[in-house]
Amino acid sequence: MMSLVCLSLRLRAAGCHGSRRSVATVVSGNKTASLVRQRLQMEVQEMRSVLSGFRPGLLVLQVGDRADSNLYISAKLRAAAQIGIDAKHLRLPSSATQDQVLQSVLSINADPAVHGLIVQLPLDSVNPMDPERITNAVSPEKDVDGLSCINAGKLSRGDLKDCFIPCTPNGCMELIRQTGVSVAGKQAVVIGRSKIVGAPMHDLLLWSNATVTTCHSKTLDLPEQVGRADILVVGAGRAEMVRGDWLKEGAVVIDCGINHIPDERKLSGHRVVGDVHFASASQRAGFITPVPGGVGPMTVAMLMENTVQSARHFLLKIQAGG
Ligand SMILES: NC(=O)c1ccc[n+]([C@@H]2O[C@H](COP(=O)([O-])OP(=O)(O)OC[C@H]3O[C@@H](n4cnc5c(N)ncnc54)[C@H](OP(=O)(O)O)[C@@H]3O)[C@@H](O)[C@H]2O)c1
Ligand SMILES: *[C@@H]1O[C@H](CO)[C@@H](O)[C@H](O)[C@H]1NC(C)=O
Ligand SMILES: *[C@@H]1O[C@H](CO)[C@@H](O)[C@H](O)[C@H]1NC(C)=O
Repeated sequence: MMSLVCLSLRLRAAGCHGSRRSVATVVSGNKTASLVRQRLQMEVQEMRSVLSGFRPGLLVLQVGDRADSNLYISAKLRAAAQIGIDAKHLRLPSSATQDQVLQSVLSINADPAVHGLIVQLPLDSVNPMDPERITNAVSPEKDVDGLSCINAGKLSRGDLKDCFIPCTPNGCMELIRQTGVSVAGKQAVVIGRSKIVGAPMHDLLLWSNATVTTCHSKTLDLPEQVGRADILVVGAGRAEMVRGDWLKEGAVVIDCGINHIPDERKLSGHRVVGDVHFASASQRAGFITPVPGGVGPMTVAMLMENTVQSARHFLLKIQAGG
């Protein structure tokens, strides 16, 4: 794999007592994601020279018409097109039944031109839906979101080479790698235990040989737990919850949060902040990801990475005469 240059921006500021004091290095997801996309674009070109006309195929299945989902989907389709992935968007009406959604998943599973299938969540349907059942119907070989039980189970057991890793935590690991800080033996703290962020993040850090503590809404001494972290990953969905004075000096802080808070100065009337209070945290952390421009773009890049990986497996299989 191509080694990525550390593109982090070193910022320095004069301390208030005249002493020079360093603030955190901002780890840019925008730049790292753009490098990942460039690498993938070259890989896709290589695939096309191996099998002419070949393109990795991605299908995004949506139920209903949520505005936020539409935005996320268009970002994914744009990134895919830029890399040379053949991306399709299949939208079922919000009147679709669960059986119809399952039928669609099964027929896409059987389509050899599709190497990656994702179901955009949340499902926006007037009918009762069990999202768990639908994500588990996706063939594990095409589950590029890594949300099926098979892939999640492999990850939790440390079978990282043989599964699709969920995109947001995979992007967080890539950003941690960018800092040059080694993970093995470190104290890592994850806030959140959801299927798409916290739980797989815990697994990834654990199998990178960190000592991992996972915190959640019932954790009693959150600031104290956070204070022990050499590496902190936050996915709680609570605007600016983690304060700078909670942090261990020099910690690596990865902020997955996307929260909209009111801001009269903005035309839109709101602005986007993370789960970490950036201004205070960057006075104490060693490395910190911004919001926006941190984990968000990495999530999309990692979806492309998984799709290209899936297509590569597919090519190897047909080359082996399968
Ligand atoms: N950048 C991206 O591409 C991307 C992708 C996905 C998500 N996100 C963002 O990441 C954040 C988390 O997403 P999610 O889907 O994992 O959210 P989620 O399903 O709502 O899970 C939130 C987790 O945080 C825990 N939590 C909530 N409040 C807490 C508190 N006060 N103290 C400690 N833990 C608390 C919850 O604990 P319990 O388990 O006890 O309820 C839960 O485990 C959101 O801001 C979301 O927008 C970003
Ligand atoms: C973690 O530790 C195990 C056991 O010593 C080792 O085999 C593995 O290579 C280590 N992995 C990483 C990513 O450091
Ligand atoms: C990253 O890119 C987005 C979209 O172009 C932009 O809004 C944001 O300010 C950038 N963030 C950083 C830290 O470069």
